[in-house]
Amino acid sequence: MPAPPSDPRCNHHVHDPHATTPMSLLPLYAVLLLLHVAVAMAAPPPSPPSSPICGSSGGPVKESTPLIAFLQRVQSAALQTFGSNSFDPKLYVDLPLQRALPAAQAAFAALPRSSRGGAVPAADLNRFLGDYFGAAGSDMVYAEPPDFVPEPEGFLPKVEHPEVRAWALEVHSLWRNLTRRVADDVRARPEMHTLLPLPGPVVVPGSRFREVYYWDSYWIIRGLLVSKMYNTAKCIVNNLISLVDSYGYVLNGARAYYSNRSQPPLLSSMIMEIYKKTGDLEFVKKSLPSLLKEHSFWDSEIHKLTIKDGHGCNHTVNRYYAMWNKPRPESATIDESFASALSSSHDKEKFYREVASTAESGWDFSSRWMSNSSHLTTLATTSIIPVDLNVFILKMELDIAFFAKLVGDNSISKTFLEASHAREDSIRSIFWNDEMGQWLDYWLKDSNNCKDSHQLDSGNQNQNIFASNFIPLWIGIHASDHTIAQKVMNSFKRSGLLRAFGIATSLSNTRQQWDFPNGWAPLQHMIVEGLAKSGLKEARILAEDIAERWIRTNYVAYKQSGVMHEKYDVEACGEFGGGGEYTPQTT
Ligand SMILES: *[C@@H]1O[C@H](CO)[C@@H](O)[C@H](O)[C@H]1NC(C)=O
Ligand SMILES: *[C@@H]1O[C@H](CO)[C@@H](O)[C@H](O)[C@H]1NC(C)=O
Ligand SMILES: *[C@@H]1O[C@H](CO)[C@@H](O)[C@H](O)[C@H]1NC(C)=O
Ligand SMILES: *[C@@H]1O[C@H](CO)[C@@H](O)[C@H](O)[C@H]1NC(C)=O
Repeated sequence: MPAPPSDPRCNHHVHDPHATTPMSLLPLYAVLLLLHVAVAMAAPPPSPPSSPICGSSGGPVKESTPLIAFLQRVQSAALQTFGSNSFDPKLYVDLPLQRALPAAQAAFAALPRSSRGGAVPAADLNRFLGDYFGAAGSDMVYAEPPDFVPEPEGFLPKVEHPEVRAWALEVHSLWRNLTRRVADDVRARPEMHTLLPLPGPVVVPGSRFREVYYWDSYWIIRGLLVSKMYNTAKCIVNNLISLVDSYGYVLNGARAYYSNRSQPPLLSSMIMEIYKKTGDLEFVKKSLPSLLKEHSFWDSEIHKLTIKDGHGCNHTVNRYYAMWNKPRPESATIDESFASALSSSHDKEKFYREVASTAESGWDFSSRWMSNSSHLTTLATTSIIPVDLNVFILKMELDIAFFAKLVGDNSISKTFLEASHAREDSIRSIFWNDEMGQWLDYWLKDSNNCKDSHQLDSGNQNQNIFASNFIPLWIGIHASDHTIAQKVMNSFKRSGLLRAFGIATSLSNTRQQWDFPNGWAPLQHMIVEGLAKSGLKEARILAEDIAERWIRTNYVAYKQSGVMHEKYDVEACGEFGGGGEYTPQTT
């Protein structure tokens, strides 16, 4: 339960974002840019704490399962045997065991090895993999979504152009390719699988992302609602709720190795969108206890701290903080290689914590979290209070207040409405930068980032430009104040983020995937939707313009490659994005 604000003067009035009219339907995947503007060199962000006392190597860690630990040893042997060329470490931790773990461990130990390293002759390793494991991905099987029809009644009524309509229907048909259920063996022998036995069918992102993901599911659900697939949408939510029931929060994804971190918390937003389309009160009623449970996870010690402003008011704010300080099993070989530049085990543990916490942010990886954008080892995510996370939690509180009222629980509704007022005030005090007309991430500069109370210093705002600086638009934080909306829109137009084919993630080209020149659909969608509902005619026109730039490049890329891509180069029409640690995902 959120604490009520301690001092009534610290509690300002806010509007209710649910009072705003939702914009008309966006096409699937929020399909929504290029300019010859020189890439601005980013100013260095504020420095992170120099010597954290408990630092980010402190805090909880839950132990790995024997299966994950074993698969990581297989992964490491595979890298040495097959080499780093197109090596995907995730493949090995996704392998389903076909024989008992002790037998597989004994056979692995008996493999011939070269004296140096741990390389096994490729033929022996391949034979071992074939004898003891099923194929990666065979733990999920195709499922026919029962509410899929090739052309749903009332599908995108405003899309009339025959070619665009045909494309939209092709994208719509991809739901059938992406719907999966857990294979029977996962339920029968869960100890043989890293896949978690979710109760119902899910829609997966595709490629190496073979399982359900947390924040991706929000946009998958938005698309399913456009496709009128209400039951499939509810089913995804019910699966995520089953994770809250088992773990107390929604995991990053439905694998045992994702169980020590979450992802941007959008569960309440999924339920809100489904409720708006279906009016299903029973669904809301059943989901509410899980939303309360998830809220208490984000409201817990590791994710929460207090910043005291110049008027003596305390602001509760939240950060990403994974319960993990070792290499991420799905990318262990990569994380270890970066950590090899660090000498002490304390520094390595701190780095691993930052890596996993960055994965929790959904923005893995980005100069946004790095004190030196040339070095991944300078990730400082646990010392950063992110704008978007705090906006998502504000929205969670408003949604809970709305749902509680709907089901007749006025006391919960009142508590959460009060908490949301305090949080809106915190967002204004900590993140808002009036000169820039943006909301900026806040860096904790104290030497101790796990202290619970910090003194506000506006010099700790990171003035670099990221698309996340505009995410508060999405929940209509400014909607009661047109001067703010106008200021933010002008600031956005001048920011350099808007390019010929969409909104860039940042202004620095670091080769990290959440940086320039990559554009990501979720960021396009949240900013477009925010501008469209700001109440300003000019902002609505801008929203349509951005949507068109994005849709144009998605369309061209689809026509050229036959697939939808997870990210696009916002400077080149039809070009998908690059950078990052894995082969880009496509659908
Ligand atoms: C994280 O914690 C769980 C216990 O909740 C454990 O089973 C799992 O293996 C841990 N995750 C990793 C990455 O090993
Ligand atoms: C989707 O599935 C259909 C039918 O199985 C297949 O023909 C099509 O190639 C698949 N599309 C993609 C992009 O995988
Ligand atoms: C802010 O929190 C501190 C403890 O961290 C407390 O002493 C102080 O009274 C609080 N201020 C207000 C205005 O509640
Ligand atoms: C960041 O790292 C680069 C490359 O090692 C170095 O040249 C530069 O001085 C560093 N920048 C800062 C602000 O420390």
